[in-house]
Parts: sequence; C-alpha cells; structure tokens
Amino acid sequence: MSDHKPALLIVEDDLGLQSQLRWHFDKYEVIIASDRKSAIAAVRMHEPAVVLQDLGLPPDEEGVEEGFATIQETLRLAPATKIIVVTGYHDYENALRAVALGAYDFYQKPVNTDTLDLIVQRAHQMWSLEQENKRLQETRAAPLPGVIASDERMHSVCRTVEKLAPTDVTCLILGESGTGKEVIARAIHNRSKRRDRRFVAINCAAVPENLMESELFGYEKGAFTGAAKRTLGKVEVAHEGTLFLDEIGDMPLPLQAKLLRFLQERVIERLGGREEIRVDVRVVCATNKNLSEMVAEGSFREDLYYRISEIVVELPPLRERGGDKILIARHLLTKYVDQLSKGIRGFTPEAAAAIESYEWPGNIREMENKIKRAVIMCDQRNVGIADLGLPQPDDISLNLRTVRQDAERAAIIRAISMSDSNISAAAKLLGITRPTLYDLIKKYNIHVSENCKD
Ligand SMILES: Nc1ncnc2c1ncn2[C@@H]1O[C@H](COP(=O)(O)OP(=O)(O)OP(=O)(O)O)[C@@H](O)[C@H]1O
Ligand SMILES: [Mg+2]
Repeated sequence: MSDHKPALLIVEDDLGLQSQLRWHFDKYEVIIASDRKSAIAAVRMHEPAVVLQDLGLPPDEEGVEEGFATIQETLRLAPATKIIVVTGYHDYENALRAVALGAYDFYQKPVNTDTLDLIVQRAHQMWSLEQENKRLQETRAAPLPGVIASDERMHSVCRTVEKLAPTDVTCLILGESGTGKEVIARAIHNRSKRRDRRFVAINCAAVPENLMESELFGYEKGAFTGAAKRTLGKVEVAHEGTLFLDEIGDMPLPLQAKLLRFLQERVIERLGGREEIRVDVRVVCATNKNLSEMVAEGSFREDLYYRISEIVVELPPLRERGGDKILIARHLLTKYVDQLSKGIRGFTPEAAAAIESYEWPGNIREMENKIKRAVIMCDQRNVGIADLGLPQPDDISLNLRTVRQDAERAAIIRAISMSDSNISAAAKLLGITRPTLYDLIKKYNIHVSENCKD
C-alpha cells in the first residue's frame, strides 16, 4: 500500500458532523469545506476523487440551490469526480435531482458512518477503475500524438519511432499516399532533442528539376540571372533541426548524387559559392514509391538508398489496419464536428458498416476528405452512407451466403466419405432425405465414386 492517502472532500456546514466525519474517514486525506466557494477552491487544489456533499449549504440553507450549483461547478471542473450527495431525511426529490445533474450517488441523513464508509469506498473504486480505463484507452488510441491507432503493426511502428527519435539516424518512411508519412516524420522530430529547432520539409515531387539544387542548397548573389541576393537552401535552413525529404523517390538522378555527397560529408556549397558550409541536420525521408524496385531498374542510386535507409519505417495501408478504420473515422468526425460546429452525434450503423468494408485506396487522406464533406452535407444527427458518398456494403450478405455454401458442401463431402459412399447413410447423417442429398450433390457438383451405394 502506498502511504499516500486518497483525498476526500467533505462539503458540510454542520460543525458537529464535520468533525465526526473527519475522525471517521481517517484512511483518507479529508478536506473540509463549508460553502460553495471553499468547496470549489478545494476541488481545484486537491482534485479529490470523491466528494461527500451536503445539499443544504449556506447562504441558502432551505433552498439547496447552493448545493446544486456546487455540484454543477465541481463536475464542470473535474467531470470524473464522484459526488455523493447527503440530503435531508425523506428528501428523495432533491436527491434525484442531484443525480440527474451528474452526482454519483446519494445518502440520506441521519448519517450512519458504516454505510457511508461503504458508499465512499465503492465510489472510490469506481473512480480508480474509470481512470485506469481511460489511461488504457488513451495509450491504445494515441500511441503518439496525432497518431490514432489500435492496430498491432501501427503500435509497433510507434514503438520504433519512440526508439529512433532521440538518435540521429537517417530514416526512411515508406507507405502508400495518405497513410501518415508526414505525421510520423513530425513525430520523430517532436520526440528528438532537435524539437525546439526547425522541421523543414521539401517535397521533391513538387519542385521542378532545374530549381531543385538551389532549393536544397541555396545560392549566392549573382549565381545565375535573377539571383538578386544570397538565399539559403532548405538544408541550411534546417541547421540543427530536422530535414524532411518528402517523395524522395521523385528526386532526379543528378540531384541524387549531390544529396549523397551531402549525406556523406555533411557540408554544402551554395550555388555560385566557394566555401563549404558545415550543416548539422537530422534527415528523414519518405516516399510512396518502391525504392528497391527503382534501384533494380536503375532510377534510384543504390548507394543513396542504403545511406537514407539506416532505419525503414513501413506504414501499412489503412485497409490492413485491423479496427483502425472506424476508430480514425470517429476521431475525424469529432474533429470536423467541433471545427464546423455541427450537432452531429455519430455514424448510422449502415455508414459504420460501409466505412469498415470500403478499401480506402487513398487511405487516411481520403477518409479525411470524405468525412469533412459528410459533416458539411449532413443535416441529421448521424452521418449516413449518402453523406459520405460510400458504396453500399452489399458484399457482407454475399459473403455470408458463400460461407454457408462452402460449409454445406464440405459437410456433404465429409458425410459421404464417413458413410463409405453410402448415400442413404450419408443423408441420415446429415439429417436430410435421400432425394435432397442427390439434389445438393448435383448443385455443388460433388464427385461421388462410381461404385457408390444408393
Ligand atoms: N493514424 C492517424 N490518425 C489520425 N490522423 C492521421 C493518421 N495518419 C494520418 N493522419 C492524417 O491523415 C492525413 C494524411 O497524413 P500525411 O500527410 O502524414 O500522409 P502522407 O502519407 O504524407 O500522405 P501523402 O502521400 O498524401 O503525402 C493528415 O491530415 C494526417 O493528419
Ligand atoms: Mg506526405
């Protein structure tokens, strides 16, 4: 047992009861408050798991409104708090009203400390369970900030990221478009010792080939026509931070040689410049191309490939992440509902089924677009299939039929072989008539041996 006693807040204005309860609950660190103001101050300061709350508080001893207001304010500050309301004898109505406001339980005076003990203990256990549950859910749902995942492979990706982030190794993130490569790259930066420095991204597919070199390494004034002043390249801008080379598979071959040189020497030369400038960056690359195939066909340098792939992080496509589709969909729904201030509650069951069965070729990016659109379009409480623009998942019933047919066929074959090709015996085993079995044999095109017995 820890010697740290859990906090118990007792909101009570009767001095006699105050001291009785204080002595009784010696297993707790008891905090006493006698009015709303001191109660709220105590909630802020001690964040008690359980509050024993007398409803009739001054200054409004009769009307109990002060007690209700305290409950509401407490729950607004700390929604998980278990409030046990203590009411006057036979005051069910107010007790129920308190529970409707979110109080956990109620107790009627006169106080029997043994019963109260049990109620407080139970409330405390409930609170601990809820906290534990919440903690587990959070670790499962958010293994890294910005990454929602329950899939085992994604969790292993996150563990890898946690391990490699504090190091300076160059890593390569692979994954189809929209799988979260940039999210992972940023997570690596944010968990590294460089997190207070810059994260500089360059999209190698978006920069025209003839501008790529100056974009990467910068140029001196007069290096070419139009070079009016010295301009730093992305590599230099990222000094002491992280350089994210996105879509590295699209880097033109001549530039690959220059990039390799930089990665080996860690110095750059601005275009038109003479001096070598030492740059300290952590390099993270990403691509949706198959780099080893590109190496094999000669469009990506093998030496560069090995240089950038000290550690490879592979993001599975969304369709292969078990349970993640609906989890991420709900996350995105909440995000856009908040952003667009809509009163939407969730997905209809059909929409949820459609989300599960759709393949999501554009992965999370596609899901984001579809859900954002749906939130804008939807004027019901729940987002439906039509809002999402997803196909009806009719393959579920088709699958069920196939499963049934496969099982039926397998059972017939087994029965026939078990009864040594005696059709009457096989039909009996299967609990069907002989003609029905013949029909099924024909339907499933089952081969029965020539010398089978009728
Ligand atoms: N696990 C996740 N949970 C929640 N949101 C995610 C997750 N992964 C990605 N996203 C979101 O999906 C979108 C696409 O992610 P990101 O840009 O990182 O993917 P990408 O692989 O770089 O895509 P592209 O190939 O299109 O560049 C982003 O808005 C990102 O916030
Ligand atoms: Mg990207």
